[in-house]
Amino acid sequence: MSPTFPEERLNPARWAQNGLVIAPGSHPTFIHGALPGEVVRASIVKRQAKLSFARTSAVEKSSADRIASDCSAFPECGGCSFRHVSYAHELEIKRQLIRELKPLGDLTADILEIFTGEPTGYRNQTRIQWDGKNAGFFGYHLHSVVPFPEHGCKNLSDRLNTFIRQHYKSQKSPSRETTFREPGIAVDPTKAGAATFDLPGGAWKFAASGFFQANKFLILPWLNFIKDLVPDATPLSELYCGSGIIGGWVGDRAKSYSGTDVARPNIEFARENFKARGLKGSFEVMDLEREVPELKPTCIANPARAGLSPAVCDAIRANVKTLIYSSCNPATLNRDLTRLPEFSLTNCAMFDFFPRTHHVEMVIRLDRK
Ligand SMILES: C[S@@+](CC[C@H](N)C(=O)[O-])C[C@H]1O[C@@H](n2cnc3c(N)ncnc32)[C@H](O)[C@@H]1O
Repeated sequence: MSPTFPEERLNPARWAQNGLVIAPGSHPTFIHGALPGEVVRASIVKRQAKLSFARTSAVEKSSADRIASDCSAFPECGGCSFRHVSYAHELEIKRQLIRELKPLGDLTADILEIFTGEPTGYRNQTRIQWDGKNAGFFGYHLHSVVPFPEHGCKNLSDRLNTFIRQHYKSQKSPSRETTFREPGIAVDPTKAGAATFDLPGGAWKFAASGFFQANKFLILPWLNFIKDLVPDATPLSELYCGSGIIGGWVGDRAKSYSGTDVARPNIEFARENFKARGLKGSFEVMDLEREVPELKPTCIANPARAGLSPAVCDAIRANVKTLIYSSCNPATLNRDLTRLPEFSLTNCAMFDFFPRTHHVEMVIRLDRK
């Protein structure tokens, strides 16, 4: 039986971070699936001492900005935040939310270019939950499963949707969580399998159970943007390098290259990819929370959502002239800017890697003042 929650009538007033709209008051509520100016009924899915989180269950007074969602699972599903506004309006909201982060918003206000691709069918991977009865995604702020919609997930290709449906039809006892990748891979986390992504110059290999950028339409524009930010003929270090895709794309533009990542399979694939392309570079497995390699004058960092470790910030402050930082979490990017006071921001862009969700990728270049 699906869980039931108390419902409240709420007046969402303005956008807040994470794709939520806030209903202010002595006990503010952050609402998923509402729009500013609406009156909604919302299920309280999490109540804390000072604030609550809620999911819209009915709209009593609708905003002129609301459009009909194209997904039957929204807003119960926690995956998307913006299926009820046009994509153009979503981008305005995302730009506004970046502006509200200080100092990031002020520093990027006049120069923030936004790169977009197709807003549907863009994801080359997804993680599906199985609760013993249904396969699907976690509900908003919940650990209960919202069944995979009949029409499939709009963020996935038709091919991957079909593969996922067939997988669950053919499995007697599916795993509690399964990662699926294009073109049709159900990842077995106990095996060291490889997956590939087609790039000009040859397929890029990475660990099927490891990290890879999710938006197949924007990977190339993102790589080209980063490559153009790299000074010519510079010695280059890359932190959190994964399978080395950024360094590999920068290629001969760098005078020398070294890459670091905590996951050994990533580093093994990075070495293999460099060798296949005839590129020179050295790689090291290292936990950047604990230690940092000697950094070259130009450094690229593409950390996970937690952002740069304090040790990495200290090493950048000590040795680096130019830092190119690609971040999937503007909040930790914003925090890290305050930890790098010797640098000024000289370029930036937002890549809308995750349309219809609240997530974005930001790329900035910082140069020593
Ligand atoms: C956002 S991914 C970027 C990978 C690569 N740039 C790419 O585009 O495929 C972040 C990477 O940071 C690595 N990572 C996470 N925590 C780390 C740590 N403490 N030390 C070093 N690497 C870490 C992960 O293994 C992952 O490959």
